Amino acid sequence: MTDIVLSGIRATGRLHFGNLLGAVSHFVDYQREGNTCLYFVADLHTLTTLKNPDEMRKNLVEIVKDYLAAGLNPATASIYAQSSIPELSELCLLLSMMQPLGDLQRIPTFKEKVRKNPDDINLGLLTYPVLMAADILGPRATLVPVGEDQVPNVELARSLARRFNERFGETFVLPKMLAEMVKVPGLDGEKMGKSEADNAIDINAPMAEIRERYKRKGVTDQQRKHVTDPGDPYNRCKSVYAVHEMITEGERETREIAKACMNAQISCVACKTKLCDSIAKILVPFQERRAELADRNDFVREVLHEGGKTARARVKETLAAVQDKMGVIIY
Ligand code: TRP
Repeated sequence: MTDIVLSGIRATGRLHFGNLLGAVSHFVDYQREGNTCLYFVADLHTLTTLKNPDEMRKNLVEIVKDYLAAGLNPATASIYAQSSIPELSELCLLLSMMQPLGDLQRIPTFKEKVRKNPDDINLGLLTYPVLMAADILGPRATLVPVGEDQVPNVELARSLARRFNERFGETFVLPKMLAEMVKVPGLDGEKMGKSEADNAIDINAPMAEIRERYKRKGVTDQQRKHVTDPGDPYNRCKSVYAVHEMITEGERETREIAKACMNAQISCVACKTKLCDSIAKILVPFQERRAELADRNDFVREVLHEGGKTARARVKETLAAVQDKMGVIIY
């Protein structure tokens, strides 16, 4: 059985290696498996925190180039901007009438925002999960792969759908959630791209620069003072060994690098070199395809236009059903 797979990424910045490996590569897998794929840039969600229009417009187009270079095919997957479907905003408004306020105030990401910036909380931050529910329920997605931090939002969308169906009869498909997008550690071992820590790997940086960054900033087992000390790759080397496990071919089966580290047979520098060789296998072909797209903004706009049309048609159908059930008539 194939699924209607849907996922979104906010346009707060450029994609980094963690996004590519943890999210976009999965998007490509779903496409390859023959699912109906809907991948969008959540520009309206971006407005909750980023208010520089030029920056957002640019990020959006660059993210789509990254999607395409990573292997998403606009002939099979619909790639679009959230704001190109104005019906999502209307659906969000209608859904908000079915959403208790308290649940929204209890969403961990919202609470975190309030804690950090109590004087700068806009209404969009509070209704963020309702718009997300519209993103998901509007095109009738059946599978929503997300990172762990988004789980409460997808759960809220599911309970909103359930509540609506109970009140007005079967209308929404309850999407399955898949929290399988992995957290890729950055140079400091924390989640890549998180916080202001300069820990991300730019997927468009030259490999020489990436090698240099790992060499200088990659935090390995800090208790291993000398090459002759045995290291602990599994517990104390989050930034390098954890990534080897994800991308270095054969490592999961043989544990060659882990064993060498535990036996003090490989230095951290050599281990980082090996890691960068694995990264290069992914990034060099990616960057070649990406370079071909660099000046093709018209093509990107065309992709967004076509993807938007397809997704919009799906949302229009859902919205019509919702309006009808809730008693809203367009005279
Ligand atoms: N909130 C998601 C994030 O920050 C992005 C997003 C918006 C999304 N709408 C969505 C993800 C719908 C999955 C489904 O990553």
